[in-house]
Amino acid sequence: MALEFGTEHDLLKDAVKVYTKEFNGQVPEVAACAPGRVNLIGDHTDYNDGFVFPMALPLLTVIVGKKNDTDKCVVVTEAKDADKPVKVEFSVPTKEPLAPGSPKWANYIKGIVQYFKGTVVGFNAVIVTSVPTGGGLSSSASLEVSVYTFLEALTGATGTSNKDKALLCQKAEHEFAKVPCGIMDQFISVMGQPGTALLIDCRSMQETAVPINDPDVAVIITNSNVKRSLAQSAYAERLEQCRSAAKALGKSSLRDASENDVESLREKDPLLYKRAKHVVTENRRTEQAAEALKGGDLKKFGELMIASHESLKTDYEVSCKELDELVAAALEVDGVLGSRMTGGGFGGCTVTLAPKNIAEKVIANMKKKYKGNPTFYITEPCGGTQVLTL
Ligand code: ADP
Ligand code: GAL
Repeated sequence: MALEFGTEHDLLKDAVKVYTKEFNGQVPEVAACAPGRVNLIGDHTDYNDGFVFPMALPLLTVIVGKKNDTDKCVVVTEAKDADKPVKVEFSVPTKEPLAPGSPKWANYIKGIVQYFKGTVVGFNAVIVTSVPTGGGLSSSASLEVSVYTFLEALTGATGTSNKDKALLCQKAEHEFAKVPCGIMDQFISVMGQPGTALLIDCRSMQETAVPINDPDVAVIITNSNVKRSLAQSAYAERLEQCRSAAKALGKSSLRDASENDVESLREKDPLLYKRAKHVVTENRRTEQAAEALKGGDLKKFGELMIASHESLKTDYEVSCKELDELVAAALEVDGVLGSRMTGGGFGGCTVTLAPKNIAEKVIANMKKKYKGNPTFYITEPCGGTQVLTL
């Protein structure tokens, strides 16, 4: 069975309850939320100025709070996997900028407070989430973006464009969490639209909304519930390899390289060849997939998903045996359109497109064939960050 996930309303209720307990019976006055995401196709392309095709999920991070008339930010997280302590206190940035430290989870919040375009005043806040943390569905981006929106509502600061908001959240992740991520996760968490996936050109930061709301088709997310410690160093290594490949081809980024250009690396540098080949072909597949979806050609969309997984596995080498096992188990079921790993890789999730009437059969087969302990979500595309009414 797929997991039921709490609605925005349930999460809000939980957050208010915890707030009252943590802060002497008080009630919060401001609330905001931001979604996690799943990427349908286009992985490891965003930091190459390429194309991605994510949708925002009904899995959310919610933050509630209010001003506390001091210069301190006091924040509690209810996330089970957060490192301890789960309650932190730090000063609003003055001339002395904030610096990352321990616990790690608070760095995401400090980063947002530091880069927020406006004057942050002291506040108390509680954070709850239904996005699995560290599961590849962007709990971190949903945390950053929800905190940004919360601060806007708390301070009344307006005027930051959606794109700048995504960029500031990405900067917080780079500088405070020390993760050199691309822009996809923050962008979709800010800009997601109900009923659509967004084809995002990560160079121009322009998005095209493509409806994905066929009531007979299910987007099934499977969390392998494994995360390799290798993920972070391998991510940075791939980023460097892409830069080297672009340089070797005389391009400012791999976005500008053609499949023909990449061929020149085949003999000269077989490793960079494979990395560049993935990026260049993945960009093509992602644009084609968006076209296929627009034209209602789900069969073609599924074929492109399968080719994407193969490329991530063989050329980019960011899959792992658990993800391969889950993809193979999904594809064994008659009628499945496509399945692939999604996100950074080395664990995390797969995404499968299948007719709704076989979704439970697909889930049953993955459960049967997978040696680990997976969790499943059947999801629909949702909206981006928003202020919530308490
Ligand atoms: P993901 O794919 O879920 O974004 P990451 O490893 O990039 O995975 O980020 C997960 C980290 O983000 C967690 O280990 C934690 O530090 C932080 N995080 C995410 N959500 C929360 C939350 N609700 N409360 C506290 N920390 C969180
Ligand atoms: C994520 C990262 C994104 C993107 C993705 C792979 O972990 O945050 O920016 O690069 O991996 O497509």
